[in-house]
Amino acid sequence: MSSPRELGLKESPGEVILSTLNPDSSPHAATVGAWLKGEEVEMRLFHPSTSLSNLRRVGEGVLNLTDDVNLLVRLALKNLLPPPKLEFLPSSTVRVPRVKGMRGEEVEDELGTSLAFRITCEVRKVEAVDPHVKPLLRSEFFLLEAAVLASRILVARKRGLKVGRMMEELRRQVEGCLRLSPSSREAETARELLEAVEKRMSA
Ligand SMILES: Cc1cc2nc3c(=O)[nH]c(=O)nc-3n(C[C@H](O)[C@H](O)[C@H](O)COP(=O)(O)O)c2cc1C
Repeated sequence: MSSPRELGLKESPGEVILSTLNPDSSPHAATVGAWLKGEEVEMRLFHPSTSLSNLRRVGEGVLNLTDDVNLLVRLALKNLLPPPKLEFLPSSTVRVPRVKGMRGEEVEDELGTSLAFRITCEVRKVEAVDPHVKPLLRSEFFLLEAAVLASRILVARKRGLKVGRMMEELRRQVEGCLRLSPSSREAETARELLEAVEKRMSA
């Protein structure tokens, strides 16, 4: 494998583990979203964070792909849950991606304004330890949840139950999918699914 696309990264965020080097040379790891931007890989790192300051200081890091959702969650929420025990191996065969450029931008959501930095990484080396591992894509989870809701809505309708709240939730899940990955196959399916359910409900 020679490209991050072959490893399963796409244009919408895939959850990966970014490892960087602390000032004392110990490794640091954090769960972040990463996506393809042409031949390069992009991330958006919040400020302040250890990952961002390590990347700014050292100029390189490693994106580690995993499909272990427990690991990603425990690593991200180490202030809340017992953290996973990570083992670090030297990147002797892997020349780490070098950070090429970054600029700060304000990110607005319902939590207010945060400062984040868009990081563009030049990919130096891609290595597949297990070629079957594909990164988890948030858009896929939205689509799956939407599908579960759609099937429940159909059952509820058949049983003469109210579906208003479930329809709202379905729209939220579909919107989430479209927001994260507007031109993907997941988005196409999510759009089609919502249209089909709405049509059925108005029949
Ligand atoms: C699913 C998930 C995705 C995340 N994605 C990002 C991200 O894209 N960028 C980011 O800066 N932090 C992200 N975080 C938060 C980081 O994992 C981390 O907790 C925080 O940024 C602190 O990083 P640090 O350990 O480098 O200080 C994410 C957390 C979760 C649970």
